[in-house]
Amino acid sequence: MKPRKVISEMDSYIPGKSQDEIAMEFGINKEDIIKLGSNENPWGPSSKAVKAIKESVLNINRYPESDLRELIHEFAVYSGVDDSQVVVGGDGADEIIDVLAKTFIDDGDEFIVPLPSYMYYEYLLQQYGAKPVYASWDMEENKLDVNSVIDAITDKTKMIFLCSPNNPTGTLISKEDISKIAEINENILIVVDEAYFEYAEITNKDLINKYPNIFIIRTMSKVMGLAGMRVGYGLSSPEIIDYIFRVKPVFSITRLSYVAALNTLKDKKYIQESIKSGIESRQYLYDELSKIPTLNVLPSRSNFILIGIKDTGFKASQLTRELMKKGIIVRDCTSFKGLDEYWIRISICTMDENKKFIEIMNEVLS
Ligand SMILES: Cc1ncc(COP(=O)(O)O)c(C=O)c1O
Repeated sequence: MKPRKVISEMDSYIPGKSQDEIAMEFGINKEDIIKLGSNENPWGPSSKAVKAIKESVLNINRYPESDLRELIHEFAVYSGVDDSQVVVGGDGADEIIDVLAKTFIDDGDEFIVPLPSYMYYEYLLQQYGAKPVYASWDMEENKLDVNSVIDAITDKTKMIFLCSPNNPTGTLISKEDISKIAEINENILIVVDEAYFEYAEITNKDLINKYPNIFIIRTMSKVMGLAGMRVGYGLSSPEIIDYIFRVKPVFSITRLSYVAALNTLKDKKYIQESIKSGIESRQYLYDELSKIPTLNVLPSRSNFILIGIKDTGFKASQLTRELMKKGIIVRDCTSFKGLDEYWIRISICTMDENKKFIEIMNEVLS
């Protein structure tokens, strides 16, 4: 039995390594592993979310509520938009990307991704028969090459992905550049991925009232500490949100993810502290790593930092392995299109973990 042609031709997506994988491979205690590979929140979830999950757990024999109104309202309040401008997804922001593809992509359409960026866009959209067209990120200046995006537009372009702050570079795309691209053709959907916007304390959500072809993707996996619950959301014009709701899986927000999301959003103190600790952690890592002369540490507005390691004498695959042997998981960025084999990405951690990481990094590089 053969799958569809696109499926037989595509590669699997390579996510960051898990603690279990590393513990098994290197015979390390799982609890001793420091995970800096997947841009998660190291401080744990909101205690209010945990309490709500515990209280709901006895109801999981029942299907989830299909009425997401209360959660949608909380997202709208948090984002400062109208309820009609919000859609919620149950496999995180990844589900939102998937539903966008299902809603808008026809076989043979093109989508533009400036490289390097989040690789999941391409992985998902190709499954619907769309063709990636690459624009570029100016790695010298560490900013979007906006003209490369404009030049890549053809009459087949259906979507343009603008990740801000961009994963893996950590940099923002300016509002002016996003607006400039959105103005070109109102039939091209401009997907602005704000998975990490809280760490930059900047949003483009105001643009959805100006441009009906802008769609903002957000997630609860980062600042909100719910990566394991898989909740994402999107902000756009009511017309686009209505289309998305027609396509979105009805029960993808589970009972537990629903209460976790709702109670985290109501826990303002948790959210504020999570942002503050994230920014402090990033600054500490940036300052300490910048002291190592062989590293090219890029400034970041996100919860991770991209590091060029060409001068260390290691390739990313080698350095990643050396760190893993010592219980540190970092992201080898070789699989990111648009980067060569000399980049790693590290996520923010708790201060104790940060200190241990810096110590081990110095040890491995000396
Ligand atoms: C830029 C970007 N967008 C979306 C996602 C997906 O987030 P989620 O966990 O909500 O699926 C990620 C995950 O790391 C990401 O880096």
